[in-house]
Amino acid sequence: MASKGSARKRYEDLRSARWYGAEDLRAFGHRSRTLQMGYAREDWKGKPVIGIINTWSDINPCHTHFKQRAEEVKRGIWQAGGFPVEMPAISLSEPFQKPTTMLYRNLLAMECEELLRSYPCDGAVLMGGCDKTTPALLMGAASMNIPAIFVPAGPMLRGNWHGKTLGSGSDTWKYWAELKVGNITQKDWEEIEDGIARAPGTCMTMGTAATMMSAVEALGMSLPASSAIPAVDANHSRMASGCGRRIVEMVWEDQKPSDVMTEKAFENAITVVMAMGGSTNAAVHLVAMAGRLGVPIDLDRFDAISRRTPWLADIRPSGRWLMEDFYYAGGMPALLSELRDNLHLDAVTVSGKTLGEDIEGADIWNEEVIRRKSAPLSEEGGLAVLRGNLCPDGAIIKQSACDPKLLKHKGPAIVFKDYNDMAARIDDPDLDVTADSVIVLQHAGPQGGPGMPEWGMLPIPKKILETGVRDMVRISDARMSGTSYGTCVLHVAPESWVGGPLAQVRDGDMIELDVPGRRLHLDVSEKELAARFAAWVPPARKFERGFGAIYANHITQADKGCDFDVLMGMAATPEPEIH
Ligand code: FES
Repeated sequence: MASKGSARKRYEDLRSARWYGAEDLRAFGHRSRTLQMGYAREDWKGKPVIGIINTWSDINPCHTHFKQRAEEVKRGIWQAGGFPVEMPAISLSEPFQKPTTMLYRNLLAMECEELLRSYPCDGAVLMGGCDKTTPALLMGAASMNIPAIFVPAGPMLRGNWHGKTLGSGSDTWKYWAELKVGNITQKDWEEIEDGIARAPGTCMTMGTAATMMSAVEALGMSLPASSAIPAVDANHSRMASGCGRRIVEMVWEDQKPSDVMTEKAFENAITVVMAMGGSTNAAVHLVAMAGRLGVPIDLDRFDAISRRTPWLADIRPSGRWLMEDFYYAGGMPALLSELRDNLHLDAVTVSGKTLGEDIEGADIWNEEVIRRKSAPLSEEGGLAVLRGNLCPDGAIIKQSACDPKLLKHKGPAIVFKDYNDMAARIDDPDLDVTADSVIVLQHAGPQGGPGMPEWGMLPIPKKILETGVRDMVRISDARMSGTSYGTCVLHVAPESWVGGPLAQVRDGDMIELDVPGRRLHLDVSEKELAARFAAWVPPARKFERGFGAIYANHITQADKGCDFDVLMGMAATPEPEIH
């Protein structure tokens, strides 16, 4: 089915025809230089050029298989009568890039958009998966708005240690705490290091990668049933070549991201995030992606959808299983099918069909992993949006990953002015802290981090860990890895670096958290708060030059998706002149 019923494009209408199809000096140059690479005229003549934006890198373990997958995408493009052009782009490797990949999400988004604009691309295959690569590629493609399809990297296989299943991130934090208090040995720890990441692919817990790949399938930008295929499964290779075949058709049909990434589609994506117990990072990325298309999605939409969406996927860290299990249980089509009454089934996807048609006949094969709506893990979704005098523009908490008895809590603040202050003092035996304290970290937001690093699962002080306590209320303007857990209030906006109320918290101030009431309150008189605001001195600027300065000048706050202000919206950007 052609999208929007439009007539098929003719070759002369393609962008690439301006590069290859003209009879002028410039087109001579483009053709002769393509011949120089060993291609014959038959390879491109009359065919759409498909840009494959590949975020493979030697330092990104989640994308190790992308060299091979790019070849499989090309195979599909050739089969369908397209001309594939692989274009490497910056690889945002979550484990290695410092201070955080989030500092560079918008850079990859810009690179994706400008690669597609400045080269003769008629369509795009977007290869990503490791955390920020997914939203970045979708943001760039949305702004360019030529036909595009996403190839999700897929999760790695389950980790294994002593016959126990290990999950990315989650079990690292868990066993690190056990090592600190002497419950496991150094040898155990090294064996865990050997077994926790034993195959290519993304984190296999419900981290940001799995959350965003799942959300993008629900959004309609990847092929049905693609997002949970383990990276090393032969089905993953077939999915990659399928994307290659499909993008060529999408070009002729002129099915653009704006036809797919509609308000209904974003509601479908948010619904899936809630039903998966997905990462809090989705609240930043989906807002940013929607902002590129002028689709009005804000934090209140997340909270409203969370309240009406049952949590069904029992995936760690909130649940028990891993993405490999989710795939065997039926994967995304099974979950979508169970959620059908909560979804806009008429939303069109890159398959060229509607979401309802895509999930026809899907069913759940393991009701432990994907629950029926009649037996949900919880009646509500995983995320909640908080408001109050400590977060006037909102904050996020993953309620499904909290100790339930902390969901309503009041306690005295213990404040760390930045990450280094926290690292230096958190395990000090003289730290004035009890299990009822509320740990506050300042200067960890979009400007303060910079890049809003995933520091939000603030460590529990050692002296509290030794008493057997494993969760406390923690508050910051940072983000948190989707593989993390605990009663962590995140994304406090506006952030402390720009003078948000979080900057005004002092040791001993009482803080009230009420997740069911969606409230976060600093129990300090208005007069006292006003005096603190008046005395507040802005921190010195971090960057005077380079990308950091561009970032600091243009980054928006968490509730706006942390996009650059100059990249948001749908204002037309001129096509390049070909001289
Ligand atoms: Fe790449 Fe987790 S480190 S997905």
